[in-house]
Amino acid sequence: MSTTAAGADPETWLAARLADVTPPGGPRRRERLHPVGGAWVRTADGYRLLNFAGNDYLGLATHPAVVQAAQQALQQYGTGSGASQLMSGYREVHHQLEQELCRFTGRPACALFASGYQANLAVLPALVGPGALLCMDQRVHASLVDAALLSRARVVRFRHLDLADLARKLEIGPVGRRRVVVTEGVFSMEGDSPSMEALARLCHQHDAMLVVDDAHGFGVLGEHGGGITAALDSSQVPVLIGTFGKALGAAGAFVAGSSTLIALLEQCARTLIYTTALPPALAAAALAALTQLRRADGPRARLARNIAAWRRLAQQQGLVLQDSETPIQPFPVVASEQACLLSQALRERGLLVPAMRPPTVPEGASRLRISLSALHDTADLRQLAEALAACT
Ligand SMILES: Cc1ncc(COP(=O)(O)O)c(C=O)c1O
Repeated sequence: MSTTAAGADPETWLAARLADVTPPGGPRRRERLHPVGGAWVRTADGYRLLNFAGNDYLGLATHPAVVQAAQQALQQYGTGSGASQLMSGYREVHHQLEQELCRFTGRPACALFASGYQANLAVLPALVGPGALLCMDQRVHASLVDAALLSRARVVRFRHLDLADLARKLEIGPVGRRRVVVTEGVFSMEGDSPSMEALARLCHQHDAMLVVDDAHGFGVLGEHGGGITAALDSSQVPVLIGTFGKALGAAGAFVAGSSTLIALLEQCARTLIYTTALPPALAAAALAALTQLRRADGPRARLARNIAAWRRLAQQQGLVLQDSETPIQPFPVVASEQACLLSQALRERGLLVPAMRPPTVPEGASRLRISLSALHDTADLRQLAEALAACT
């Protein structure tokens, strides 16, 4: 609760509010970091750090073919889209990207958004309103929590990945009430995934619509990087969300599903209608990144080798890892303060590994979020495993 005194001057008011929202372990800070090749970044005061804090899982943000595609699109289309998609901001390159995404995901239709956050804010209020039931995994991303609030549906959270608990929650009446189940494909703080086929079956049994935000699985999992739902069709997963800001190394997002779903979004998705369309250069970058995913010995194969190597090297150092076959490899630390101290100790050894604290993760579940990339090499992974073992 705010301790702000009523009638205080704006600075006093803001300072009191700031004190209220600052987490234990110290304030969050933005830091200027400059990419300097491979997985390295340089700080503003000139230190080089090995980056284990990004979502550029395949290193595509700096891939020459992706950068060149963006440069060409800048020449062709200019910087911004100049309008929302429904006004005059929808370009040929947006359309091409949508078509390629349909091929990639095996979905008949698709719509682009300027970010994953906006895609999520669009989807849930478009699907349901007051009177409906939204069952969401306890660990879903903040954007889905906000989207659920915007929808004004009744929100029920089920235990993380627990389908038996979800089945109980789906029984909440009355019969005929619209039901939507919301999950992530790969959970952003855990690196784990639901059993997608079983989840789809359960939703089908309860006439519930399944929404999967595959922000962290798209590009990484599935054949050619089609994501966690690659083997399932749109009758099983009717609403699929993916982002371009993570494995694709760009920014922006898509929602894929039936043409009715996309027509619905065109009519009422406020973050599609009332915001400037994704810059064409970013659409071109995402399109070029999709091409890289198809290369057999490309970045996806390097990432898979790095995930296996990291787990082997960490285990050799006696580190206890959470189960995760994805680039997100959480290292549990429990207390916020301890997580911050460990993150700082690693930084002093040249390693950038962020501490995740409440409210991003639950109370008592602070952790380091180690994220691996195709840009790392075995020596980088060994350095992290040895440093973590030395600091714990
Ligand atoms: C699961 C999930 N969904 C959505 C988003 C938001 O995506 P974007 O960064 O494109 O807004 C994130 C970002 O961290 C995420 O982890």
